[in-house]
Amino acid sequence: MSDKIEPHLFVILGALGDLAQRKLFPAVYNLSASEQFGENHIILGVDLDDTLNDEGYRASIQGVLEAAGLAVNADQVNYWCDCRLHYQSLGSGGGADFQKLATRIEALEQEHGLAGNRIFYLALPSDAVPNVVKGLGEAGFNDSPGWTRLVVEKPFGWDMASAQELNAGIHRYFNESQIYRIDHYLGKESVQNLLVFRFANAFVEHLWNREHIESVQITVAESLGVESRAQYYERAGAIRDMIQNHLTQLLCLVAMEVPSAFEAGSIRHEKLKVLGQIEPIHPDDVVLGQYSGYQQEDGVSAQSSTLTFAALKLQIASWRWKGVPFYLRTGKHLPLRCSQIVVAFERAPVSIFHPSKSEDDVKPNLLIITLQPDEGIDFHIQVKSIGDPISLTTQQLSFHYADAFGTLPDAYEHLILDVVTGDQTLFVCDSEVEASWGLYDHLSGNEAISINSYEAGTWGPEEINQLGAPWHNPES
Ligand code: BG6
Repeated sequence: MSDKIEPHLFVILGALGDLAQRKLFPAVYNLSASEQFGENHIILGVDLDDTLNDEGYRASIQGVLEAAGLAVNADQVNYWCDCRLHYQSLGSGGGADFQKLATRIEALEQEHGLAGNRIFYLALPSDAVPNVVKGLGEAGFNDSPGWTRLVVEKPFGWDMASAQELNAGIHRYFNESQIYRIDHYLGKESVQNLLVFRFANAFVEHLWNREHIESVQITVAESLGVESRAQYYERAGAIRDMIQNHLTQLLCLVAMEVPSAFEAGSIRHEKLKVLGQIEPIHPDDVVLGQYSGYQQEDGVSAQSSTLTFAALKLQIASWRWKGVPFYLRTGKHLPLRCSQIVVAFERAPVSIFHPSKSEDDVKPNLLIITLQPDEGIDFHIQVKSIGDPISLTTQQLSFHYADAFGTLPDAYEHLILDVVTGDQTLFVCDSEVEASWGLYDHLSGNEAISINSYEAGTWGPEEINQLGAPWHNPES
């Protein structure tokens, strides 16, 4: 890993799209305007519109940055756009258009004294990715006088077969060390803190196993519905959109063994081991749902069977975890937006404070790791209430990022900085993508699993109780 910001050209393909405008430009602006970046880098937006020139594009990005609340210093934004930002149309995306792009890139590099370090960020609809990769590869962009990095966004395929095809298509031109597959959850500070919490606090390791943990549940709840993304979401649904990637990555970070170093090779190796140890998921351990009213959303088929909710139980056949159920749950239109990992520890085996002396009378200690919002860690402990006779109540030991550090940077800022410095630790490799599809392929479209309806604003279909999880619903 290198922290050095080397002079480079940052090419965003899909520069007029929603992802580029909402996420990438604010992040790139914040990074690029910071002192550590220095002067030697430029950004080239590439899209299909051939009526736009540099000036027009700069004006539109100024608007984007203002809308993102970054125009506190308007002069600085204008100066940044004028000095850093360029636009190139990719026309109809044919071979000649990629050659024109090559000519423009060489001219810009010469003009700005850049040595040929290039990042190609594919902020594109998934259907466009294979052709653009081919266009880049055939125009020779996989090789340059400096280094070349290719950033790819999810979905990394729609199932195992299409993921393999996508990986093979990218590998035809780019090797794995050039590819940065983004799972933006890995860029969240609170998600990276999972590893710090586990591996920088020695006491945790002693408790982090089947001897002391009763169950683990990972919830990524969203309060919004499908909004304007029906075209993508109809094809995706909750398992492909969230479980196969974000929740499975979280599961790997919770369950993996200690890596030998905080670097890409060691971390990927440990995550892959976890993926390989997950037992086949039985359809009885899966509850699927769709919020009522989904079929009436704009762009959604009136007969749609797309999942907006999925919950499942899985088991990891390893010495550390055998017998500990892991519950994953995600859904749209749930009561609130909150991502949490709840680790339930074994209860005191005998309760000397209750006449029955039963362990059931004591609540388990819960470790609640909130990934968003109000990122932090709460540990639920039993304490004595004041007075006689002795009675127990639950209180929390808490750490919250906002109290300790203030506002957290956006995940994209962190990940883009890692691309620029060439650090693949927080990016997903080809084998992880394929191993993860291997877990869920048999669930999508499986007629043995019914799709239950649930009301918007609830915690999903009632059938979720059949999984036997001690569901802990986050509170607002
Ligand atoms: C995206 C999914 O990957 O993650 C969306 O495609 C989802 O459907 C989003 O809403 C959630 O991300 P975050 O960071 O808002 O929790």
